Amino acid sequence: MNNVSSQADLQRILKEGETAVLQASNLKELDDVRVEYLGKKGKVTAVLKTLGQLSGEERKETGKVANEVRQKLESDIASKHEELTRAEVAERLATETIDITLPGREPVYGHRHLISQAIKQITDIFIGLGYKVAEGPEIELDYYNFKALNTPADHPARTLQDTFYIKKHSVQPADDDIVLRTHTSPVQIRVMKSQQPPVYIIAPGRAFRRDVADPSHTPMFHQIEGLAVDKHITFGDLKGTLEEFTRQMFGKDRKIRLRPHFFPFTEPSAEVDVSCGICSGMGCRLCGSGWLEVLGAGMVDPNVLIEVGYNPEEVSGFAFGMGVERIVSLMYGIPDIRMFYENDMRFVKQF
Ligand code: PHE
Repeated sequence: MNNVSSQADLQRILKEGETAVLQASNLKELDDVRVEYLGKKGKVTAVLKTLGQLSGEERKETGKVANEVRQKLESDIASKHEELTRAEVAERLATETIDITLPGREPVYGHRHLISQAIKQITDIFIGLGYKVAEGPEIELDYYNFKALNTPADHPARTLQDTFYIKKHSVQPADDDIVLRTHTSPVQIRVMKSQQPPVYIIAPGRAFRRDVADPSHTPMFHQIEGLAVDKHITFGDLKGTLEEFTRQMFGKDRKIRLRPHFFPFTEPSAEVDVSCGICSGMGCRLCGSGWLEVLGAGMVDPNVLIEVGYNPEEVSGFAFGMGVERIVSLMYGIPDIRMFYENDMRFVKQF
């Protein structure tokens, strides 16, 4: 190759290149052009590589032309690049405009689950009576769940059939066996051990028992525990408190009835029924006898007071525990408590 033909080649390459740049219709095509002419194996580069074969003077001249060609193409590509970029931005702005006149999509609002609503309603009633909310762990020590509550080692509630054991050291009960609490009563112990009387607390929470799920049982359920310890607390105070709660919760004309019962941690103990709202105590399909059982209660057993370091000669107290699922199903006539936990929206949305 000689000087003249190299320079002619370069001029031809320049013409072709300029046309190719002009014709590039997007950035990708433009980049292909750049590679084709100016890349490592590009056309201009190829000519530059032959310079070595030329004599000094020729090499100088051809080299100069080659550089001019390269610079011209580079600047052509640069301005085309700018033009295409601007066009692409304009195109995106045009196609991606947001039509702010479109109506918005309405967010889906949820609401409190029926059980949570009831827990709030019940705790609010007791807060109104001067009680404070207390909480305790769901994974509990045997000591708090049973022993400190005066529940003897051979009590049936302690058997493997009734209690979920997380850690059981041996067949014999031990204070540091770990259980899922079977009721909210251990919160009584934790609160009394952490403060001096007077105590007025309400403790809502989950409890667990090894029940097979059926219309009236689920292995997890909710309880609300109440505890009042002060000077001169009597069974009459318990009854009055529960009557006031019943009026606020179920309505003015509902009555309560206390039946003697047994709990290891209260003495005397009672089961408490509320008169049926449907038949007003006459007896109907929902209640059978006219009365619905809603909670367990009693005077705090002196053994429990001694266990937490209180003096039963100075203070006395009452405690009660109610099943939230039970109360809610009685209020709304829900026939199967498993419905609370199936998350069927047709059910959940009704409340
Ligand atoms: N803890 C008892 C239960 O789960 C209920 C109860 C609480 C009874 C407080 C008396 C006093 O059945």
